[in-house]
Parts: sequence; structure tokens; C-alpha cells
Amino acid sequence: MAPSYFLAPIVDSSSTFKDDIFKGKVLFCTGGGSGICKGMTEAIMRHGADAVIVGRKADRLAASAKELSEKTGKTCIPAQADVRDPKSLKDAVQKTIERFGKIDFVICGAAGNFMAPISGLSENAFRTVIEIDTLGTYNTIKATIPHVRKSKGAYICVSATLHYRGTPYQAHVSAAKAGVDAISNALATEEGPWGVRSNVIAPGFTSGTEGMRVMSGNKSNTADGFSNPLGRFTEIPDLANAAVFLFSPAACYITGQVLPVDGGGEHLRGDF
Ligand code: HXC
Repeated sequence: MAPSYFLAPIVDSSSTFKDDIFKGKVLFCTGGGSGICKGMTEAIMRHGADAVIVGRKADRLAASAKELSEKTGKTCIPAQADVRDPKSLKDAVQKTIERFGKIDFVICGAAGNFMAPISGLSENAFRTVIEIDTLGTYNTIKATIPHVRKSKGAYICVSATLHYRGTPYQAHVSAAKAGVDAISNALATEEGPWGVRSNVIAPGFTSGTEGMRVMSGNKSNTADGFSNPLGRFTEIPDLANAAVFLFSPAACYITGQVLPVDGGGEHLRGDF
């Protein structure tokens, strides 16, 4: 393990971007009830957007929507849907249009994860993660694309860095996230002529998330032997800042990119 001479600061996007860059914009975010996608939604709302957060757990969604509205002074509403079910997603989109009249930005973030070796993974277990992550991303894009075309908006898909090399016990998630990257790239090429952009954010090990809990075997914010060039785990504000940038006009010529936000860790090499 290399010595850490430097620890990257944790920066709030409000210190860098103007408060009103997303004024009048509407965000539709799957997985927005908790963790990384909730943090991205908060940052985008702090810059002026209203939002709809989509997920399976009605109670958690309602509480998060209330919290996000109170924290940002903008409007966030919950829409209960399972990204595996196209009909429930269509209903969530309809609710968004009835409330806000349009969709500018979409975050495809709903995901599922658990650790399991291929030899112990059932067919249904593998299929479940593919259905949530990959099919769910496709379903979300399919349900929103007519509206995003109208607004010449943008997509961010939340992926991972696991599939850049072999990550044990993560074959299902690695396959699912490779598919997410591929869908975003295809979307970028197909929809660019309509004025729509699509990019991927690939988080590293992110403190305080369900993914970190699963990957570290319930040890919350620790991982044995972990280190990276910038000296710490990914924090949710790092990912939120990347989302603000990619939706902002400053990124208007950036599409079809996969942006690892991992302190130069997993995407550069296996061991540092
Ligand atoms: C082996 C497992 C398992 C485990 C579930 N299964 N957990 N197999 N090890 N730990 C199997 C079940 O036995 C079943 O197969 C199949 O998977 C479906 O399980 P269900 O519980 O019926 O599915 P469901 O209720 O839809 O739940 C989906 C889930 C769950 C993915 C299993 O964990 C979930 O809803 N997670 C959402 C929250 C989450 O995981 N967030 C973290 C995302 S982090 P059988 O054969 O028995 O029927 C992330 C980042 C990755 O994605 C990058 C990190 C760096």
C-alpha cells in the first residue's frame, strides 16, 4: 500500500457552479430515494431544478422527497415504480408530466447488488441484477426519451468500475454495469442528432452507501488494504459534482463518455 501524502478535499458544488444554472429544469431520477442518486438529486435541485425521485419503497421515497424539498427550496415529488416494470415507469413519467410538464434530465441510477461467486449464483439471482441495472436502464430511457428529445435534455447512467477487470463475486453486477455503459454509448450516438446527450458516471467505493456495505461485508466505511492516488474513498458530493457538471451547459459538447469518479483508484489499476 502506497503512503498517502495527500487527501483530496470534499467540495460542495455550490462553491463552483452558479446557483441558478438549472432554473426551470426538471430531473427524473431512478434510485433517487437514497444514497448516491439522492445526493445527485439534491445537488441538481440546489442549482434550481425540480425533481421526481423514483423507487420501490413508498415510505422512503416520500420522506426523501420531503427532505430534498425542504433542504433546497425546490419541489421534489416521489413516484413509486419498479424499473423492471415498464408500466409502472410509464406511470411515473406521466405523473412527472402532469406535475411539471416536461423532463430535461434523467438519472438512471436504480441498482441491485450482493456478493456471490458464479458457482453459487442462481440463474434467478443473476437475472435479477441484470433486470434491475441493465433492463431497468433501458426501460427508463424508453419511457422518458420522447420528453427528453422535446427538451433537448441529457441522461446520466450510474455504472461502476468493477467490470474494467475481474472483480470476484461480482460477475452479475459487472455484466450488468458493462451493459449500462454500452446502452449509454449507443444512446449518445442515436440521440445526439436530436440534441440529447448521454454520459455515464462510474463511482468508486463510495462511503455510506448500500453498495459499500455490501462490498465491505457490513464493515461500513472500511475496506481492507484500500488506497488510491487521491487518498480516500469516493464521497457522495464527488459524484454529485460530476452530475452537476455533466448536466450543465459547460458539458454541452460532451456525450458518450464514461467518467470514473474514484480518486484514480479502481479504473487505473488494481493495486496501488
Ligand atoms: C446469492 C442472492 C443474494 C445473495 C439475493 N439473491 N441475495 N443470491 N447471494 N446475497 C438471490 C435470491 O436468492 C433470488 O434467487 C434472487 O437473487 C432474487 O432475490 P429477491 O430477494 O427475490 O430479489 P428482489 O427482492 O428483487 O431484490 C433484489 C436484490 C436486493 C438485488 C436481491 O438486494 C435489492 O433490492 N437491492 C436493492 C438495493 C441495493 O442492492 N443497492 C446497492 C446497489 S450498489 P433464487 O434463485 O433464490 O430465486 C451498486 C453499486 C455496485 O449497484 C458498485 C459498487 C462499487
